[in-house]
Amino acid sequence: MRVVGVSGSHRRDANTRIMVERVLEACKKAGLETELITLADRKIGYCTNCDYCKTNYGCSIKDDVWSILTAMEKADAIVIGSPTYFGGISGRLRSLFDRTLPLRRNGMKLSAKIGAALATGGSRNGGQEYVISDIHRWMLIQEMTVVGDKTTAHFGGICNSRNPGDVLNDEIGLKTVDNTAQRIIETLKQKKASSSCSGPPKTSPSNHQGR
Ligand SMILES: Cc1cc2nc3c(=O)[nH]c(=O)nc-3n(C[C@H](O)[C@H](O)[C@H](O)COP(=O)(O)O)c2cc1C
Repeated sequence: MRVVGVSGSHRRDANTRIMVERVLEACKKAGLETELITLADRKIGYCTNCDYCKTNYGCSIKDDVWSILTAMEKADAIVIGSPTYFGGISGRLRSLFDRTLPLRRNGMKLSAKIGAALATGGSRNGGQEYVISDIHRWMLIQEMTVVGDKTTAHFGGICNSRNPGDVLNDEIGLKTVDNTAQRIIETLKQKKASSSCSGPPKTSPSNHQGR
């Protein structure tokens, strides 16, 4: 089973990236395949609402997004992290979310995949929960199955950091990151066990209505 992690920071040496990598490392130790995608390295244009994806499985904009969508489609679980910018997700991640419309419009490609969220911010309470909520709302609209963090049992991994690397000093925050990894691993194992007992899943993705 495969876990894809997306770091939504604009910085290559980002705290967000450290958090996402930490989750992927735990997943790898549990025997899962992993892939890291750092949006700081990718060219991501804005969705122009051109409706090309209404009639084609593709996108009219030719940049780095399609390779990210392909990686998401192949994943069993997707963990997405973002820095907090003015109480919400980064613009780069927002642009990527809008560009995932072809996945929704062409048979709900992310349906039933496990989804988890991570957030960091310069203030202890600077809006990280809103960031997590932004990511969860995208996951729910893509029909994904959202999980939080095990035993700390809230919304996912939440840290406090300002400069690159600060996140490593946030022991309490890192615990929620580690627990998010455990929840992903546990849920994937449960999913694998139930699919091998009962054959293919009985529910099928809904045909989207409207968007
Ligand atoms: C434009 C901008 C807006 C920000 N807004 C917030 C904010 O609303 N709340 C907060 O806690 N931190 C805010 N920060 C601080 C970043 O979240 C913080 O530096 C974080 O460590 C960045 O994560 P990264 O290293 O993964 O990029 C902001 C930073 C920038 C550049």
